[in-house]
Parts: sequence; structure tokens; C-alpha cells
Amino acid sequence: MDLNKGKVLGVIGIKGGVGKTTIVLNLASVLANDYGKKVLVVDANFSSPHIGLHLGSVNHKTTLHDVLSDKAHIKHAVHEHDFGFDFIPASLDTRNIKHLKLKNKLADLKNNYDYILLDSSPVLNDEILATMMSSDELYAVSSPDLPTLSTTLRAVKLAKERGVQINGLILNKVRGRKYEITKAEMEKLSGVPVVASIKDNVKFLEALSKVKPLVMHSPYSAPALEYKKLAALLSNEPYKEPNLFKKAYGFLKDDFHNFLNHDFRKGLKYYK
Ligand SMILES: Nc1ncnc2c1ncn2[C@@H]1O[C@H](COP(=O)(O)OP(=O)(O)OP(=O)(O)O)[C@@H](O)[C@H]1O
Ligand SMILES: [Mg+2]
Repeated sequence: MDLNKGKVLGVIGIKGGVGKTTIVLNLASVLANDYGKKVLVVDANFSSPHIGLHLGSVNHKTTLHDVLSDKAHIKHAVHEHDFGFDFIPASLDTRNIKHLKLKNKLADLKNNYDYILLDSSPVLNDEILATMMSSDELYAVSSPDLPTLSTTLRAVKLAKERGVQINGLILNKVRGRKYEITKAEMEKLSGVPVVASIKDNVKFLEALSKVKPLVMHSPYSAPALEYKKLAALLSNEPYKEPNLFKKAYGFLKDDFHNFLNHDFRKGLKYYK
């Protein structure tokens, strides 16, 4: 029996733009395509949903908003994606919904998946609480700067007050500069282990312009390998680092492929 059956992983952060959606979609892609897991991504960023936009799939007939206003059964809001995982989009509207029903609604789907990943809202009200209360494991995203760290510490405190544990911090957009808060400082101040440290990398923006998770756009890049390591850790799978030759060959092949297929008319400067 797979002990991980139906585990809900929530990705939170009380700050916009730290990388929650990016992390959820890259993890979903690796868990599904590299580790063979059945994965569902849920857009629990209720007031500013982005999952559909990142997946190139918008204007859905049934969304999480319909589910949380008791207009539809959750199974009707599940959409398949050819990236290898399913997703539940949310609607970009201001409808009154019952955020805290999320946990109960997800219960109906838990047996269908190995992992359900929740992309959350940075808004500190029922929006973020819905993810906190629905998750079996919670991961907080922080970039290594003081304002983000202070919001991360607030998230840790809020979770504790609700009797929920944050299992790990994911450091994102790390540049390795002296002025950045270090992993050790983050761990000491928050009391939470850092489970991944993902570099700031322009390839994330290239991938975004291709409407693809980075791990699919550039699977041998350093941040893609960080994601593969993190997904292995979260799913208790062994991580096998590709050898140097495979890494270099794969990286050049990806880069060349992306270069060849780049649509320069779109105005993105691939090589300056
Ligand atoms: N490691 C990284 N290096 C460079 N850019 C990144 C990295 N991670 C994410 N980004 C970029 O940062 C921007 C914000 O990321 P994302 O949308 O995932 O943040 P978010 O926390 O979900 O934001 P929101 O709170 O608005 O939903 C995107 O353009 C994304 O491509
Ligand atoms: Mg987001």
C-alpha cells in the first residue's frame, strides 16, 4: 500500500510574488513525470487565481468557486492537463464563497491522487486559512530578504496558533549574495527546516513566456534539478543526480532547442 496516498501539500506565503504558484506547478510536474505520481493541483488563490494562466487553460465552465458556493460537485471541477497532472482552476470573480469548506470538499478526491498540491493566496484571512486547514503538510515560501522573512515568521506564528505545523521552508529567488539572509539564519529565526533553496534564474521567466513549468522547459538546468531533489524529499523517493556529461549535454540540448523554437517576434530577448 502506498502510505502517501492522498497527501495534501499546501504551499503558502503571506506575500505576493514570492513564487508559490511557480513552486506548486514545478513540483506537480516533477512528481507526476519523474516520480510517476498521480497529482492534482488546486488553485486556492481565490481572489487572484493564476494556475489556469500558467497552464494556458482559461474560461472553465466549472471552477473551485462553483464548488465552494455549493453549485457543483468537486469532481466536476477537475480538469486534465497534458503536462501529466490534473488541476482545479478558480474563477477571477468576487463571488461570496465558503473558503473553509475546502478541506471537506477535497476529502472526496483524496483517494484518487497520491498528491494534492494547494497553491494559496497571500491574503491573510480565510483565503490563506483554507490552505492551512486543508493541508496534511505545509510549506512556506520565502525569499532571503527581511520583509519577506518577517511575513514568513508571521505565517509560522499563525499556523502554530491554529495548531498547524509548517513542515518546511522553501527559499526561492536566492542569489547567493552576502547581504541575503542565510539558510541557517532562516532556520534559527523560524524554527522550521529549509527543505530547498532555489536560485533566482531568468529561465523561470523564459518558461513563463512558453506557458510551461521550468522543469519541462529546461529540465537539466540547476533550478530544475533543485526541484527534482525537493520532490524526491517530499515523496520519499530516491534522487539520482545525473552525471556531469548528461547534465551538460541535456542543458545544451534544452538551450539549443529553446533557442531554435523561440519566437523572436514576441519581443523577448533570448540572447543579448
Ligand atoms: N526562482 C525564481 N527565479 C526567478 N524568477 C522566479 C523564480 N520563482 C518564481 N519566479 C518568477 O516570479 C514571479 C512571481 O512568481 P509566482 O507567480 O509563482 O509568485 P506567487 O507567490 O504565486 O505570487 P502571488 O502571490 O501573486 O500568487 C513569476 O514571474 C515567476 O516566473
Ligand atoms: Mg500565485
